[in-house]
Amino acid sequence: MELFIDTANLDEIREAASWGIIDGCTTNPSLIAREGRDFAETIYEICEIVQGPVSAEVVAQDSEGMLREAHLLRQIHEHVVIKVPLTPEGLKTCKSLSGDGTPVNVTLCFSLNQALLAAKAGATYISPFVGRLDDIGHDGCELIADIVGCYENYFYDTKVLAASIRHPQHVTQVSRIGAHVSTMPFKVLRQLFNHTLTDKGNAAFLKDWETVGEGVEATAKRFLEKRSS
Ligand code: E4P
Repeated sequence: MELFIDTANLDEIREAASWGIIDGCTTNPSLIAREGRDFAETIYEICEIVQGPVSAEVVAQDSEGMLREAHLLRQIHEHVVIKVPLTPEGLKTCKSLSGDGTPVNVTLCFSLNQALLAAKAGATYISPFVGRLDDIGHDGCELIADIVGCYENYFYDTKVLAASIRHPQHVTQVSRIGAHVSTMPFKVLRQLFNHTLTDKGNAAFLKDWETVGEGVEATAKRFLEKRSS
């Protein structure tokens, strides 16, 4: 499963990219507004850091306007993926862009029928919002399973991008189901590393190592010097 970071914060993106586990990034108008920076410059900088697909969302609500925005956004960087809402105008835009080979992420998906429409419109990614469905008492992961199954049945190429991920358990669940991508905030990404047995085991190894009496570098250098003399 590919891991995307869901933020427009450059410090978070730089930190996560330094871990070597980031495949791409998703942004949305709310995340961009939160940073208070220039949209186009922010998207360019994210693309340069991530060196993978970066979703930039249009805000026009009619297809002509979406296409104008999309054509400009695509010129910012080769890694820009155009994000459109799951509306009739959004899917009309998706169909037109995907026909030209432009990658499109269809966002705000909350049902299997919507996901079916996005696949038919040639979406590169469909973004079902797991957390927001859970928030209203539905089962977000069940929707991910339904879409993965449907796309397999009908051989659609559209990738299922599990979005609105709120905690590590969501990541575990959607990876078991077979989502192609999962996008999550920096906090959740960082939490994926955590396990008390890792911390406990690491502390025990370090404590036992104290009895060895010297560092790894010192012993390795001594050995290598001896061997080469
Ligand atoms: C996905 O592309 C969206 O930006 C994001 O996952 C929405 O998450 P939220 O429901 O936590 O705002």
